[in-house]
Formats: sequence, structure tokens, C-alpha cells
Amino acid sequence: MINIAVLVSGGGSNMQAIIDGILSGKIQRAKVSLVISSKTSAFAIERAENAGIPVKILSNKILVDEKERAQKLLELLDEANTDLIVLAGYMKVIPAEVVAEYRNRIINIHPSLIPKHCGKGYYGIRVHESVLAAGDSESGATVHFVDEGVDTGRIIIQEKVPVLEGDDADVLAARVLEVEHKIIVKAVNDVVGLLYEEKGN
Ligand code: GRF
Repeated sequence: MINIAVLVSGGGSNMQAIIDGILSGKIQRAKVSLVISSKTSAFAIERAENAGIPVKILSNKILVDEKERAQKLLELLDEANTDLIVLAGYMKVIPAEVVAEYRNRIINIHPSLIPKHCGKGYYGIRVHESVLAAGDSESGATVHFVDEGVDTGRIIIQEKVPVLEGDDADVLAARVLEVEHKIIVKAVNDVVGLLYEEKGN
């Protein structure tokens, strides 16, 4: 069984897609054993609690500096015997120590076709505003491995959506979010399969 830790900061709909994917059998041999939220107000917390998943809060109110955040993160992940970390709308940069400890075992979902409209400052609605401002005819979502950069790790899966006449950022965000929920499930199942082989059980 592969233990997944999901890191969240907001609504948690991608996390919900993973939870539902496990229940439906679209994701095999895995369980979400921990949810960590960077915000005390994230609706993702309620979703996790409804699913009976342990939740920990790592917010700026609790932590004073990045070193402490890294240390605390590693402790929580270790306590939960984490095999795979999924960033699902998580708005904090993962400390280098954590990336090193979980090399090729951290994945992130980003609401654009990386390498376009990504990197520092490109998150949430700003991504879709950037796509519209650029006049792109298509957008989409990407799941990638997390490395020391921001949205720079090896791409696992991408799926496109059209940008339609009259789209505003919210309409485009909703169209992309539907695709996020699909590819996050496929990517988690694929990576779990790889880790399951490696782990040997
Ligand atoms: C999604 O577009 C995600 O890519 C972005 O925040 C939006 C909401 O994510 N980071 P979720 O509902 O919290 O999973």
C-alpha cells in the first residue's frame, strides 16, 4: 500500500478528486494517510475530515521560519510513513530539504500548459489572466514532479482545453479545473504504480 500525503491551501477539489479516485478504484494500492494545510481556513480541511483523514495545519501563525517549516514538515511526513507527496492547490514552496528527502516522490498540479504561464507569482486566477492576456487559443493543466524550482520538474501528464471567445478568467479557470481533476487522478495512479513496484509491496 502506498501512503499519500496531500498538501493543500484552499478548496481541496483536487484532493477530493484523489479521495474519490481511490474510492472508485481509479487509483489502486494507495491511501491518503495525511493531509497538511498551510491555512487554518482551507475548505480542504473539512473535506479531509469528512473522509476521516488526519489533518495537520502548518500555517505561518504556528511557524516562525522556513527552517522550522522544513523540520516540522519532515516530521509529519515521516510520522505518516509517507511514500508520495501530492501538492493539490498548495501555495507554499517546498523546502529544499524536503525535495531532497522525497526526490521524485513529490508531484504538483498546475493550471496551465507548463512551461507557459508558470513559475513564481503564477498561481490561482493569475494563471488564467495571463493566458487570456497572451491571447492563447488553448490552455490546460499539468502534473509534474517537484524539484528545487517553481513548476520546473519533469512533466508527468498534461491535458489541453480550448480558450473560447468571451472567456473570462473565472470561466477558463473552471474549464481547466475539470481537466485538473481528471489528470491528477491518472498521474497519482501512474506514480503510485511506479512506487509500488519499487517498494515491493
Ligand atoms: C486549482 O486551479 C489549482 O490548480 C490551484 O488552485 C485551484 C483550486 O485547487 N492551485 P483546489 O480546489 O484547492 O484543489
